[in-house]
Amino acid sequence: MSPEEILDRRWMRAAFERAAPGYDRVADLQREVADRTLERLDFVRLDPPRVLDLGAGTGYGMRALGARYPRAEVHGLDIAQGMLREARRQALPGILERSLYVCGDALRLPLGNDAFPLVFSSLTLQWCEDLPSALAEIWRVCAPGGLVLFSSLGPDTLGELRDAWAGADGGSHVNRFLDMHLVGDALMATGFRDVVTDVDRMTWFYPGVVGLMQSLKSLGAHNVRRDRPRHLTPPSRLESVQRRYEALRRPEGLPATYEVVYAHAWKPAVPVPGVAPAFGGAPP
Ligand SMILES: C[S@@+](CC[C@H](N)C(=O)[O-])C[C@H]1O[C@@H](n2cnc3c(N)ncnc32)[C@H](O)[C@@H]1O
Repeated sequence: MSPEEILDRRWMRAAFERAAPGYDRVADLQREVADRTLERLDFVRLDPPRVLDLGAGTGYGMRALGARYPRAEVHGLDIAQGMLREARRQALPGILERSLYVCGDALRLPLGNDAFPLVFSSLTLQWCEDLPSALAEIWRVCAPGGLVLFSSLGPDTLGELRDAWAGADGGSHVNRFLDMHLVGDALMATGFRDVVTDVDRMTWFYPGVVGLMQSLKSLGAHNVRRDRPRHLTPPSRLESVQRRYEALRRPEGLPATYEVVYAHAWKPAVPVPGVAPAFGGAPP
């Protein structure tokens, strides 16, 4: 792990482990984004024998992919063992029998080369700040002629909360999400072709700032930056954050913006001359 990494990966993994049992209770937005990501498969004719849900969490995507492709083996990979336990617990009959649960890191996939005609991922790649390495691994496990489809978060996500904290103490309290304006370029540079990206801005409403922060914590999605403040927040500072955020209140509650980036791309069936993708992780 290099010291210049912004996210504390060990802390992040532990946060997702802790979040796993209660994740589904607060994951409305995640399910909505997964549905919108999965909808994009309506326009693609595929009958994959094997699909990968990268960052499977509690298995929402695995269940949907298993139902959509009744012949497919459904592989769910996640860095948090607890998430996979939940996914297995909730697996549906008819899909469980052809589901495989793999604990591993997107940056070093413990999976074979060229194995998956479809690599799906919803709201996971924003946790991989080294996007080129993650995409190189996806490329490696994606079958020639295969499709990668994912959603992730862009830098405007939770801007209201970031600004409220910045005004209160100038600290880094919100993760900086990857600048996904470059996601298409990164996919092209990896070797993928017919790249399509689009952005959706969603506003989610919360009863108050504390509720929003608790919800992020329950998702495992709270601040995992290395430079996060390590001390307890004095009540006066929290009040200052609340005061600033309250200025944005609408009849529905306090708004939180999520900038959702969708991308899909194909791995050419035959190697493209001159394209030599740089592999981020060692093949297993
Ligand atoms: C916001 S959740 C999304 C889960 C699921 N895809 C969904 O839509 O509900 C992000 C998931 O990515 C996993 N994750 C984060 N970083 C990862 C990495 N480097 N490799 C594999 N999984 C990772 C987390 O453990 C968590 O389950």
